Amino acid sequence: MKIIKVKDYDEMSTTACELMVDRIKTIKNPVLGLATGSTPIGLYEQLIETYKQDHVSFKNVTTFNLDEYIGLAKDNPNSYHFFMSEKLFNHIDISPEKTYVPNGVASDLKQEAVDYERLIQKENGIDLQVLGLGTNGHIAFNEPGTKFSSRTDIVDLAQATLDANARFFDSIDEVPTQAVTMGIESIMEGREIVLLVSGEGKAEALKSTINGEVTEDFPASILQTHQNVTIIADEAALSLI
Ligand code: GLP
Repeated sequence: MKIIKVKDYDEMSTTACELMVDRIKTIKNPVLGLATGSTPIGLYEQLIETYKQDHVSFKNVTTFNLDEYIGLAKDNPNSYHFFMSEKLFNHIDISPEKTYVPNGVASDLKQEAVDYERLIQKENGIDLQVLGLGTNGHIAFNEPGTKFSSRTDIVDLAQATLDANARFFDSIDEVPTQAVTMGIESIMEGREIVLLVSGEGKAEALKSTINGEVTEDFPASILQTHQNVTIIADEAALSLI
C-alpha cells in the first residue's frame, strides 16, 4: 500500500484530483469507479474546477458507482444517483449513458446486481476505483462479516451505518436498511484503488485498514492484499499510525 499523507481535507481532495486527472489523460477510454459519502465531495468539486479551468474532458470516461440504497429512485434527493448528478455529473461533459449507478428500485434487484457486474465486465473492468472508508471498516456497503469473495448483491446495512448516514435524512427511520452494492471481490478487481480518508473520526478505522489483521470482520483490511492501492489520508486520519 502506498500512503500519501496530506495536511487536511482540501489537500486530500486536490491530490486525489491530480491522480484521477492523470489517469483520465493517460488511459484511452478510462473506466472510473466512484464512491459517495462526504469524503469524495471535495474531489468532485476539484474535478469540476479542472474541467472548467483546464478543459479536461470527460467525454471518453465511463463511471460505475459502488452502491445505491434500495427503495430510492434516482430522482430522490437521498439516493446516491441523485448525489452523483448533483455533485459531479451535471457539471462536466460526461455522457449520461456512461454513468452507471445501480438501480435501487429495479423490479428484480437480484438480476440488477448480476447485470451490473456484466456491465462492468463489458467495459473491461475498472481502471481506477475510488473508495471511502466506513468507521466500522466497510467499503461501499460491504459491512463487517461480508465474505471477501462477495460479488455485487443486495445487502443489509449495519446499525452503525444507519446511525452514521442518518445525518443525511430527516430521521433515522427514513434511512433505507438495505442497499445494492458492488462486492468485495468486484472492488478488488479494480486495476488501481485509491482510498480517501479524512478526519480524526476515521483514525481508528484507518489504523485497522493499514496495520490490522486481514479479516472479514474488517472489510477494508483486504486492501492490504491488493497490488496497486494508494491511500490519500490527512494528518488527523493518520494520527494513530
Ligand atoms: C457510506 C458509503 C461508503 C462511504 C462510507 C463513508 O455509507 N456507502 O461508500 O465510503 O459510508 O462515508 P463518509 O465519506 O461520509 O464518511
